[in-house]
Amino acid sequence: MRGIREMDIDFYWAYAAARAESRGPAWRYNESKHCGVNYNSGLLARIYDLRHQMFRNYEQETRQIVAALGLTPSMTVIDMGCGTGAFAIGAAEHCRTVYAVDVSKAMLNQARRKARTAGRTNVEFRQGGFLTYEHDSEPADAAVSVVALHHLPDFWKAVSLCRLASMLKPGGRLYLFDVVFSFDVAQYESQIPRFVAAMSRRMGPEGQAESETHIRDEYSTCQWIMEGLLQRAGFQIDNVNCTNEFLAGYLCTKTVLSAAVTPSIVAASQRR
Ligand SMILES: C[S@@+](CC[C@H](N)C(=O)[O-])C[C@H]1O[C@@H](n2cnc3c(N)ncnc32)[C@H](O)[C@@H]1O
Repeated sequence: MRGIREMDIDFYWAYAAARAESRGPAWRYNESKHCGVNYNSGLLARIYDLRHQMFRNYEQETRQIVAALGLTPSMTVIDMGCGTGAFAIGAAEHCRTVYAVDVSKAMLNQARRKARTAGRTNVEFRQGGFLTYEHDSEPADAAVSVVALHHLPDFWKAVSLCRLASMLKPGGRLYLFDVVFSFDVAQYESQIPRFVAAMSRRMGPEGQAESETHIRDEYSTCQWIMEGLLQRAGFQIDNVNCTNEFLAGYLCTKTVLSAAVTPSIVAASQRR
């Protein structure tokens, strides 16, 4: 039987590890401990583009986002959850600096390799995440996040969007794209299998497994919640594009917040 002392030591080590990993107080959501799909895997990072390009066209996506945000060669943009650089590397051609941020070292390494091959020298890679990245350069003109925010539960999405808003200039733009549900929740038992079937048609059995993991273990939310979160963080939603009942893109502008809705986290970061 284990003694009390031994259990105390175990408890202490678990506590210390949680603190170190989440780079903050023990209650903070640990964004470096991946939920669902494990993007820390070097193998997954290497085959990510192969799999995603079965149903995505990175060049076309990037062109559309660059045009929607109105990016010009003098502008800076943060790509939060940049992955292997699907947006960041192509966008670098159109602006001054892209800050490509991700919690996964494996995904960042892959993105770095691709940027080197493409001869892009104006992409700054930063390991960090929605909850931990500190943007210590001048406030950015725009931020982009593509299929990454669903890794956080809703409360932490709210914190993340407030943090992103605080990294932008007044009037800065945000483009957010993610798996967001706009179907009637009462119909989930028929709608979710439609989502899984669509992913399986596009990516085969792996698409099926990945979408099942997504629904079960990750944190995609409802359209009305996502819109509330964006507005509460101080974004005006200029355009919503629901590709279907499962995917949505939001083009937003950072507005100057009134004192009544300024989340204290933003107020605190602005005082710094
Ligand atoms: C589905 S991939 C999307 C990558 C890329 N944006 C794209 O369009 O292909 C999700 C990415 O989000 C990253 N991620 C997960 N949690 C994160 C967090 N809390 N902060 C920043 N990035 C995160 C993962 O490491 C992964 O690279």
